[in-house]
Amino acid sequence: MLRTASLLAASLALSAALIHPAQAKVTVSISCSSLGIEMELCRDGAQAWAKQTGNEVKLVSTPADAQERLALYQSLLAAKSDKIDIFQIDVVWPGILANQFLDLNQFIEPAKLDGYFQTLIANNTVDGKLVAVPWFVDAGMLYYRKDLLDKYGLKAPETWADLEAAAKQVMAGEQGIEGYVFQGRSYEGLVCNALEWIVSNGGGGLLDNGGQASFNNPQATAAVDRAKTWIGGIAPQGVLSYDEEQARGAFQSGKAVFMRNWPYAWALVNAPDSPVKDKVGVVPLPKGDGDKAVHTGTLGGQSLAVSKYSANPKEAVDLVLYLAGAEEEKRRAVKGAFNPSLKSVYNEPELKDDAFFSTFSKILESVATRPAAVAGKGYNQFSSQFVRAVHATLQGQGSAADNFASIRTSWK
Ligand code: GLC
Repeated sequence: MLRTASLLAASLALSAALIHPAQAKVTVSISCSSLGIEMELCRDGAQAWAKQTGNEVKLVSTPADAQERLALYQSLLAAKSDKIDIFQIDVVWPGILANQFLDLNQFIEPAKLDGYFQTLIANNTVDGKLVAVPWFVDAGMLYYRKDLLDKYGLKAPETWADLEAAAKQVMAGEQGIEGYVFQGRSYEGLVCNALEWIVSNGGGGLLDNGGQASFNNPQATAAVDRAKTWIGGIAPQGVLSYDEEQARGAFQSGKAVFMRNWPYAWALVNAPDSPVKDKVGVVPLPKGDGDKAVHTGTLGGQSLAVSKYSANPKEAVDLVLYLAGAEEEKRRAVKGAFNPSLKSVYNEPELKDDAFFSTFSKILESVATRPAAVAGKGYNQFSSQFVRAVHATLQGQGSAADNFASIRTSWK
């Protein structure tokens, strides 16, 4: 009896070993952004992978501010630290950080990459090297209070002038409500907002294909000068220090009619405990004036890269593919409104039949891209100079044309 039991145990151990060949358990550390519920979703996904593979994961939290996160990454990578295996990187960082990451083409079969938006794969490819696997796509969108617009017989705004008029009308009739909140702090988020104002007003992208500044033109400067008139008017003075979460805080607590934000805010403003649950609509951001005016939203989004200094690159790539796999992308979309980088996930019924994802797909057709590819390693410096000029204008320190004139003109 004893013998049969031990034989059985031995054969069970053998078959377990065959299923999971004797592989040392490793710990893979991953750094995720902490915007909204990103950290929580990242942790759940990484832990599910750990359970499935028998490995361990360690989450490294980072600042929510994109620029601060980049600075942290740069210092860790410059020190060749092996503390973080996987880095969540912004759509505008591949050129800046390419040298510090593994070429994922060496680890992933080409067929496995076919399902991703190829524009994102191209965005993440620097000199033939695949720096990161796309994880989710962002684009700026306009959130509005359906209930308040209905109350005043207003429709969602088509143009910035419509938005200004609607904001003023509701503010005049309601106590303690702001018209418009957005990301006005001097950081990457303001680059995204300003690009939207400029492109929507027919002012073009910020750099041309040769890396020359193209933003100092009348439509572009008019768009930024117009945004200046919002401060202390339809937008609170404090918007000059708002990031995504501060804008969401104001809007979600019912203190603003309109908000510019990324898709992640959708899941949160509609969370069970949100004071504005079911009172919010989303549309493309307004367009400006003139024939060249268009609806647009800045393209954002994040990808997963593996550090060159990782001690466990194989497992790290495996976790990247798990997180950016169909099942996990769908879970993140349903729970957090993170828009998949895998095209097929949009055909899942939970997304296909949902008005939010249809609106987002429409916005994706006319996104504005920041000039990260053309500026390459210099993008961060470009972004800092540009955003300083925009922020100074919003603060009332000179016109957009004067402030733009102080920026370096060649970024190649
Ligand atoms: C979001 C976007 C990213 C952008 C950042 C700005 O995280 O995904 O692309 O740079 O916001 O704050």
